[in-house]
Amino acid sequence: MMDLTNPGPGTGSLPPRAHVEDGLPTLSLNGDWRFHYSDSLAQAPEGIESEGFNDVVWDCLPVPSNWNFHGHGAPVYTNVQFPFPLDPPFVPDANPVGDYRLAFEVGAEFLAGALLRFDGIDNAGTVWLNGALLGTTRGSKLPAEFDVSGLLRLGTNVLVVRVAQFSAASYLEDQDAWWLPGIFRDVTLLAHPAGAVRDVFVHAGYTAAGTGTLRVELDPPMPGAKVEIPALGFKAPLNGAALQGTALDVGVVKPWSAESPSLYELRISTPAQTLRLNVGFRTITVQDAQIKLNGVPLLFRGVNRHEHNPDLGRTVPAEQVLRELKLMKQHNINAIRTAHYAPHPFLLQAADELGFYIIDECDYETHGFEDGQWAGNPSAEPQYRAALLDRMQRLVERDKNHPCVIMWSLGNESGKGENLAAMAEWTKARDPERLVHYEGDWACPYVDVYSRMYLKPADVELIGRQEESPLPDAIQDTHRRNLPFILCEYVHSMGNGPGGLQEYQDLFDKYPRLQGGFVWEWIEHGIRQHTPDGEAYFAYGGDFGEKVHDGNFVIDGMISADLDPRPGLLDYKKVVEPLALSVSHDWRTLTVRNKYDFLDTSHLAFIWRVESASGRITHGTLLVPVTAAGEQTGVVLPLEVHAELAAQRVLTISAVLATDQPWAPAGHEIAWTQQGSPQAPRPALLAHGAPDIARQGHVLSFGPATFSLMTGELSSFKGIALNGPRLTLWRSPTDNDNGKDHAQPGSPRPATTWEDAGLPLLEGRLQSMAHDAGELHVRVRYGVPVARHHVDVDYLWRTDGTAMELSANLTPSTGWGRTWPRVGFDFQLPGEFSQASWTGFGPGQKYPDTGMAAQLGWFSASLEELEVPYVRPQENGARAGVSQLQLATERGGGQSLTFQGTDFSFTLRPWSQEVLSAARHTPDLVADGISYLTLDAAVHGIGTASCGPGVLPPYQLAPAPLSFKVLLS
Ligand code: GAL
Repeated sequence: MMDLTNPGPGTGSLPPRAHVEDGLPTLSLNGDWRFHYSDSLAQAPEGIESEGFNDVVWDCLPVPSNWNFHGHGAPVYTNVQFPFPLDPPFVPDANPVGDYRLAFEVGAEFLAGALLRFDGIDNAGTVWLNGALLGTTRGSKLPAEFDVSGLLRLGTNVLVVRVAQFSAASYLEDQDAWWLPGIFRDVTLLAHPAGAVRDVFVHAGYTAAGTGTLRVELDPPMPGAKVEIPALGFKAPLNGAALQGTALDVGVVKPWSAESPSLYELRISTPAQTLRLNVGFRTITVQDAQIKLNGVPLLFRGVNRHEHNPDLGRTVPAEQVLRELKLMKQHNINAIRTAHYAPHPFLLQAADELGFYIIDECDYETHGFEDGQWAGNPSAEPQYRAALLDRMQRLVERDKNHPCVIMWSLGNESGKGENLAAMAEWTKARDPERLVHYEGDWACPYVDVYSRMYLKPADVELIGRQEESPLPDAIQDTHRRNLPFILCEYVHSMGNGPGGLQEYQDLFDKYPRLQGGFVWEWIEHGIRQHTPDGEAYFAYGGDFGEKVHDGNFVIDGMISADLDPRPGLLDYKKVVEPLALSVSHDWRTLTVRNKYDFLDTSHLAFIWRVESASGRITHGTLLVPVTAAGEQTGVVLPLEVHAELAAQRVLTISAVLATDQPWAPAGHEIAWTQQGSPQAPRPALLAHGAPDIARQGHVLSFGPATFSLMTGELSSFKGIALNGPRLTLWRSPTDNDNGKDHAQPGSPRPATTWEDAGLPLLEGRLQSMAHDAGELHVRVRYGVPVARHHVDVDYLWRTDGTAMELSANLTPSTGWGRTWPRVGFDFQLPGEFSQASWTGFGPGQKYPDTGMAAQLGWFSASLEELEVPYVRPQENGARAGVSQLQLATERGGGQSLTFQGTDFSFTLRPWSQEVLSAARHTPDLVADGISYLTLDAAVHGIGTASCGPGVLPPYQLAPAPLSFKVLLS
């Protein structure tokens, strides 16, 4: 009774139309439904569609939901590969089925005609009302509406839906995400009496003269209909000719942009109803190889957003959507690609209001066909044409009235083919006022934008210069060379990273053709689970017994699944800040470059503060002349600012919101800059005399310290058990260390080369230990099992009786690989040393190509606060540019140890690197009573090779001789 092999669209539903508030009664059918889960169609109950079917023994399931989150079946995560044999249009017999039944009451207001709308059923639904078949749904993240007039009756009605997890349509929905079945978006009954407006398409443009234009297509055209925009005092009859065909001038308006999202309520009244829509006046064009909004070129500071909630799956509550969008605004993000499907309609409503540029993407991806050179790819197979056009039409028709939508995207990673061209052609004909986007066909024959993903900066630069390598077809090449360029995906935010953000932004700032990019991706898709003793953690691919899966590749967001910003988001905020501030070295002038596309600086206040080791010493506000978008202003800083210029002082100037915005309160920081240095001069050792030296057993006492005569390492200092230093060249691999550098095809994964070089197994052999003229010389050779390569380290210790100075000189042999992840010195201390205070960059982590959000100053944090709880544990938490580190047993007191140097990094954690590396989930990290400290003399960058280019050359750490100095007190 279910034909799951038909590659066509769903059946029985009405032509698609816009989601609008149409003034007619609606009834939400969300709530608890009766539900029955079967592992396969063969096991599913029969006769469920009949009204009399007895469902009392069935479970209850909330609608909307994904049934996997309510105790039925299990989620499956795959990226490119299909979780079933690639045998289109067939799917396996073991295909989970969810049966839903709802008895609901209906009043008279629906009896004159009604529609039943499903906003999303994943994957294939069959729908019956009161025993009659309404039809089938395909296109999981798109709506389907059925006409139920005549079937609906006063009183109780019975709605039945059978949902199969997989169907021929699954071949069209191979997005990199969890496969999550169910009626996962709203179900609504809508009154739709005869004479009601079926659909409306509002075209609101903006002219160079500062006026708005309006054209309204009403379907069907209605004699007597009127349109008005009360805030503009605009009223006009809407009878066929007047507005349907020609745009009318509505007078001077405030244009809509993401920076200034002015909306006007528009009302359309007919004798039967009043429709209400928010319109934004804006015009999108492509001119001079640039996307322009209202004549102004845009710069996208974008993210790709999937829909995900850690406890609910793809059913995302509206409050979460709002929180996400506000977080984006707070982090200077202005654009969203709805990867890779139509989002819940609420997102677009909120994006209109808060201000985002949306690339609205069709629910379409066939990436798994790439295996086998795209043979049978639906993009090129005629039997899929109708389904693909249907998907595109339902996307465009649903969302066409949202000013935030500026581009339609045909889908993601679906190869090439005539069906894509047909989707684009239909879209252009239906909505010539927006742009068409698709990344997968690099010849760009039917799109308005040249879009690529994960290109390395050097290739992006060539495109910026319009010097990319030519296409074989000269006409196509000319077409493409004159298209604007975006990176619809770049910098893969998986685990610790992404590194190298700044390099891209510098190019976007330099070349007008480069109009920014969309980070992959916004949110991690972790699923919240609990250990037997109740500790929460996020699960990923493979944690649900999936036969095939792609592990933690689904954990690659700038925020955790429960919306906690990762360090990468803070860096992104800094890198894309819409204002470039800089202060001269003498603290006398501030330069403000306004990088907004539209806004001047009048919504901002400028504040300054000067800090020293003892805390904030002075602060104030600055008067900055209002600076127009694209302009630059120089400001002479008041005397009270530069009077503070001194060693060990840091000046910070911030631009903050002057007044509350819908997405952040007054005082929220938008951009900042710093000058000065917190670094204290390293105190010279006091007179180094002849320290007390004594041997006892295997221990050598040397001034305030004891050393092991077996290893040459410290065993105590000032009576505190302090072990180390021990050379380490390894870090617990980040997801990017485990990645394949896209920019160097065929190059091995860095973590593999480091493991092959034996770095995790580095061990020392004391070669010599001698004291002479009050100095202790320790020479250790570090090597790895099997291999001959090694590193010799000469440690030279001096003391004045209280403090100790360590100089380490490191000489590597030949035979190491191209890079090392770090050159660090490990120490172990009692776990009570759990508080760190440091001078350098903070408060967050920083690696050579990340940490743009870190500021110079004086910081403190506990062991716990130093960690970034990445879902798959990995290297994290390094604080950089440090000149002084104090470790203490209590915040602001207790016993303490101080390390002073010039520019080192440190990590401090309550577990070893081995434990960190072996851990698969956060509960695997268990403190063992030791504080593990690593002082790094040098660190390798992070890059973004989990998907994209690896660490760029300036941030690579090559094996080489090096010296490191630190003073312990
Ligand atoms: C892209 C793809 C995304 C995601 C990303 C890696 O190729 O479009 O959906 O898979 O790679 O996380």
